[in-house]
Amino acid sequence: MQYTNLILTVCLVLATSLVDSKKLPDYIPQCKKNDPNFDQCVLKAIEVVRPYLAKGIPKIRVPSLEPLEIPQVAINRNLTNIKVYAKLTKIIANGASNFTITKLRCNTDALTLEMSIFIPLISVTCDYDVDGRLLVMPLKGKGVFKANFSDITAVVKGVGEIVSSKKGVKYINIKTIKPKIDVGGQDTKFHTTDNDPNIKAITQTVAAFINQNQRQVFEIVRQIVEETVGAVGKSIGNNIFSAIPYNEILPL
Ligand SMILES: *[C@@H]1O[C@H](CO)[C@@H](O)[C@H](O)[C@H]1NC(C)=O
Ligand SMILES: *[C@@H]1O[C@H](CO)[C@@H](O)[C@H](O)[C@H]1NC(C)=O
Ligand SMILES: *[C@@H]1O[C@H](CO)[C@@H](O)[C@H](O)[C@H]1NC(C)=O
Repeated sequence: MQYTNLILTVCLVLATSLVDSKKLPDYIPQCKKNDPNFDQCVLKAIEVVRPYLAKGIPKIRVPSLEPLEIPQVAINRNLTNIKVYAKLTKIIANGASNFTITKLRCNTDALTLEMSIFIPLISVTCDYDVDGRLLVMPLKGKGVFKANFSDITAVVKGVGEIVSSKKGVKYINIKTIKPKIDVGGQDTKFHTTDNDPNIKAITQTVAAFINQNQRQVFEIVRQIVEETVGAVGKSIGNNIFSAIPYNEILPL
């Protein structure tokens, strides 16, 4: 009798913990892995979730999108037209929650994704500390960078894989994210906090050059921007995917 009770209790506890272990909040619609209209299902689910994105969804580690805050990004590249060592801190971006997905193609077996995104306007501010060279101009100094980017389009290709935790739970891990980014218009301002008159002069020269040669400068920094956005996206994405088991993201 007591033995039966014990088994019953164990079963109840197990059942409760199974229910409790659902990680995806109930208001997020699930799309079945073999749904023939999987992409449509995901697009609908994103619209349902959109109102929650501005503030973020801490339970599954979705960061607040309005604003999106990134504590630090380090850039270290030596390319033909630009050599840059930069530390960007306290990055704050406004406008990302106004994204539209204009195309989506997922393959739930191969775990590949191709997506086109449009964002009308993103305003960014960050602290910068830079050293390097843009064409023949030196880049040097510390300060505050502010920019408005308009009509942003991104074509994103992602590849995932299934990994198992130590407890044998399957998760999705993003192997690669490759964005191709285009910007319609940009307006950038540098405010140097250096008192050195040389650095003030360098900052003015570079800022004027960037504003007068927006297209060329974007082409020069495009690779760095795409790699940086890809790395930040991968880190945020994997943080989310490691909070939700595979069978909740792609239930049968
Ligand atoms: C940057 O690249 C150039 C050309 O490839 C090379 O001459 C230079 O030594 C490199 N600088 C650094 C700091 O790696
Ligand atoms: C999002 O778009 C709406 C409509 O164009 C606009 O009013 C709002 O300011 C935008 N939000 C952000 C954070 O840019
Ligand atoms: C960005 O746009 C806002 C609103 O139009 C404006 O107040 C601000 O000065 C702009 N910033 C830059 C860096 O152009």
